Amino acid sequence: MIIWITGASSGLGRELAAQYVRDGHRVCVSARGVEALEALAGEHAPGEIGVYPLDITDAAAAQAVFDRIVADVGVPDLCILNAGTHVPDRVTAIDPERFRQVMTINVYGTVTCLAALMPAFIARGSGHVAVVSSVAGYRGLPYAAAYGASKAALINMCEGMQPELAACGVRLSVVNPGFVRTPLTDRNRFSMPFLMEVDDAARSMRRGLASGRFEITFPKRFTWLLKGFRLLPIAVYLWFTRRLLRKG
Ligand SMILES: NC(=O)c1ccc[n+]([C@@H]2O[C@H](COP(=O)([O-])OP(=O)(O)OC[C@H]3O[C@@H](n4cnc5c(N)ncnc54)[C@H](OP(=O)(O)O)[C@@H]3O)[C@@H](O)[C@H]2O)c1
Repeated sequence: MIIWITGASSGLGRELAAQYVRDGHRVCVSARGVEALEALAGEHAPGEIGVYPLDITDAAAAQAVFDRIVADVGVPDLCILNAGTHVPDRVTAIDPERFRQVMTINVYGTVTCLAALMPAFIARGSGHVAVVSSVAGYRGLPYAAAYGASKAALINMCEGMQPELAACGVRLSVVNPGFVRTPLTDRNRFSMPFLMEVDDAARSMRRGLASGRFEITFPKRFTWLLKGFRLLPIAVYLWFTRRLLRKG
């Protein structure tokens, strides 16, 4: 398979790229951090990993990168739109600029990549696109208002797009991981339940993608618990999250 992965300079994206290459796939990697991408490519045989630096918030650049990938290796079979950011926030110090940064990278940045790749996927009538969201998009969580809102937007967006894309022969998945140890979660100052190591998480994601399911979540015990929380009446849910807050 030819695979394009965004956000591959660290964490989940980097690990996914390494695992897919080990299994013999051709991988194109994007992120802003050129040195980190080149270091990743340098760990593998020449030509196994193609480096395509990109700031996903630049729509023209996303189109140019996708067109270069197509020219170099052909239309990818699988695109994993994984790039994202998280900046913990507090209502006592709402920072509109930071809020905008999270929404722009996580939502608008994902949309620029979708817009870039979709015409080629639809014209071909096949292919698989995965959007990496989060269980934080299921329900509001303290200190994650911007992040949770951006991830909820991605889940809703994918649900909206799936039927139309399926009719065009294009498969869409939304990936909702629980906590995974990466530079992104290293910023968290609380203990993270069911924290997964990045290699396990990447394996779970790959298994889910291979199954072709629309929604891919892991680790199951945690994500099913959070799905259960979605069924709670709002007053009960808010009582629970207020208690979480008091525990710090
Ligand atoms: N770790 C978790 O517990 C967890 C849980 C649920 C969901 N997720 C999601 O999984 C994805 C990967 O996160 P991670 O945990 O692996 O975090 P990470 O190590 O911080 O990786 C984030 C990646 O996104 C890239 N990125 C950020 N802004 C970008 C931009 N404007 N343009 C291009 N690339 C950009 C970063 O590269 P550059 O900075 O070099 O551009 C980096 O490669 C994210 O979407 C995250 O929300 C993570």
